[in-house]
Amino acid sequence: MAKDFDSMEDSNRSANPSIHEVSDPARRVVLLGGIGALTVGALAPWLAGRAVAGDGRPLIGFKSVAVSEKDTVIVPEGYEAEAFAAWGEPIGVPGNMPAFRWDASNSAADQAAQMGMHHDGIHYYPLDGSSTHGLLAMNHEYTDDGLLFPDGKRNWTVEKVHKAQAAHGVAVIEVELTDGQWRIVRPSNHARRYTTRTPFVLAGPAAGHALMQTAGDPEGRTVLGTLNNCASGQTPWGTYLSAEENWAFYFDGPAERNADQRRWGLLRRGLSRWGDHDPRFDAEQHPHEFHRFGWIVEIDPYDPASMPVKRTALGRGAKEGAMVATTRDGRAVVYSGEDARFEYIYKFVSRDRIAPGGARANAELLDHGTLYVARFDADGTGRWLPLVQGQGPLTADNGFPDQGSVLIRSRQASDLLGATKMDRPEWVAIDQDARTVYCTLTNNSRRGGANNPAVDAANPRANNNMGHIIQWTEAGDFDATALRWQHLLLAGDPANKRPEARGNIRGDGFACPDGLTLDARGVLWIQTDMSSDEMHRGEMQRLGNNQMLACDPATGEVRRFLTGPVGCEITGIALTPDGRTMFVNIQHPGEPLTPRGDNLEIPNLNNDPAKPRRYSNWPDFRPDGRPRSATLAIRKADGGPIGT
Ligand code: FEO
Ligand code: CA
Ligand code: CA
Repeated sequence: MAKDFDSMEDSNRSANPSIHEVSDPARRVVLLGGIGALTVGALAPWLAGRAVAGDGRPLIGFKSVAVSEKDTVIVPEGYEAEAFAAWGEPIGVPGNMPAFRWDASNSAADQAAQMGMHHDGIHYYPLDGSSTHGLLAMNHEYTDDGLLFPDGKRNWTVEKVHKAQAAHGVAVIEVELTDGQWRIVRPSNHARRYTTRTPFVLAGPAAGHALMQTAGDPEGRTVLGTLNNCASGQTPWGTYLSAEENWAFYFDGPAERNADQRRWGLLRRGLSRWGDHDPRFDAEQHPHEFHRFGWIVEIDPYDPASMPVKRTALGRGAKEGAMVATTRDGRAVVYSGEDARFEYIYKFVSRDRIAPGGARANAELLDHGTLYVARFDADGTGRWLPLVQGQGPLTADNGFPDQGSVLIRSRQASDLLGATKMDRPEWVAIDQDARTVYCTLTNNSRRGGANNPAVDAANPRANNNMGHIIQWTEAGDFDATALRWQHLLLAGDPANKRPEARGNIRGDGFACPDGLTLDARGVLWIQTDMSSDEMHRGEMQRLGNNQMLACDPATGEVRRFLTGPVGCEITGIALTPDGRTMFVNIQHPGEPLTPRGDNLEIPNLNNDPAKPRRYSNWPDFRPDGRPRSATLAIRKADGGPIGT
């Protein structure tokens, strides 16, 4: 999601300083080594870590594509990209497969049995180990209500609120490669939607906490729904993790917001307008519902009857995603960044080892463990600071009487611990063998500005509109409390006049890294999210539409692999176990290319419902249609591994 931050939050006014010094761009930190045995592959073979190529071919074998402003997807010569599973397609629930209506007149009930809007994080779950038949679990982050309804936000009703809620959440679909094409298998007993109205269990230390109790759920143990699901993670025990990112902006707050509500960016008037017809989103009436979002949710895609769970032990936040590593002794380590200006990077280390036996055998694994927040020091080292009640400043006197309150107020706890305020941490990619972790820091135009934190070693550029990628290696194993870090690259365009906007990329230029995945061959795939109100102009003018690039982390070389249609974001990536199909999500094609402030009658960059095809008509190009988020299935014409 390219955030319209002028209407969203910028709430980290904590006093913990940016104490770090400005980075010397020439500095390179020697990484700690460490090669360990893979434990992941033994539990879920399709998740096996980085393989040794060993075939003599270069890691990245394709020829770069040029930047593009066309309303189409472009991939390198020798590759094919086909869009399927677009917003509104029936997911295949037996007996309930409503067709998409091109005028957006499907009902809320229809939408709950169709693909949601604004596809984001995605993972592939093989059936019987197959690379041509499996399940796709994917997030539907948010909605463009100008496209979701024939008349947009006008005539706002409870039915419209329910349809918007049904277009959010997660989809699980069965997919198969037949005759060279990936298709949704319909009907399928695996097909399921999780929406903002699906019951979720609350588990972990904050479940049942007084701050989680509401009129509708006095026990504080069951929540209706998930929302703003951004990036995702795949666990070694075969489940799907999905992060609730910008949940705060869905709520209407009181005229006088308290300090906690301000720290979380609660608005007087939320962007969703759900509070008009669903009192749960009126935080003046129901202030605790606000505490029940912002969690990592866990879903078992293989069991459509299973109850999804919000894992409170991992902490509350505007989390971008949840990506899993494994310690040498088999414990799970879950990394997340909080994508907001000057927020933090976290990891959770499970107390127990991953058990053989899949989801059921690990049903409580993510309920017990230790949550940490990162501090990156100027000398290239760093520390993981525990968010544990009673340790350091996290005491009752400071507003943390129990572990539940630490987790519910994780931002405030991290402020007290002196964590490093980052430039909007997005996705995390993990090199299981090297104990190295990469994290995209997408941008932060406020960095170094008046009344804002100064540049620091880890976030070294003022007005950082281009973003960068940081990497660190854990001191020994993934549960370490020490690390060494460096920058993989600073994004930018060398043709820019302003030195801070040029970057240091070795290869094809880009801005605003967001999606990030390390594939089994060792290619680091980078997806971009330049906001459409900055795209094609200013310092972004030579960078075209959003794109996906391949990076060889050993050399830093970057090559552009894909360019998306107009106004889209590229986000979400999954490979089949054989590495020969790559699924990539195209989110919000046709988001208005409108400079911020020029389009105030269309809040939050929604389309004008009277002109749904004004910016894009991808992927259908029907004269009566509208742009739709969709999944790309990318194959090589010769059937070879993607990236070669
Ligand atoms: Fe949903 Fe931070 O992107
Ligand atoms: Ca983003
Ligand atoms: Ca993102």
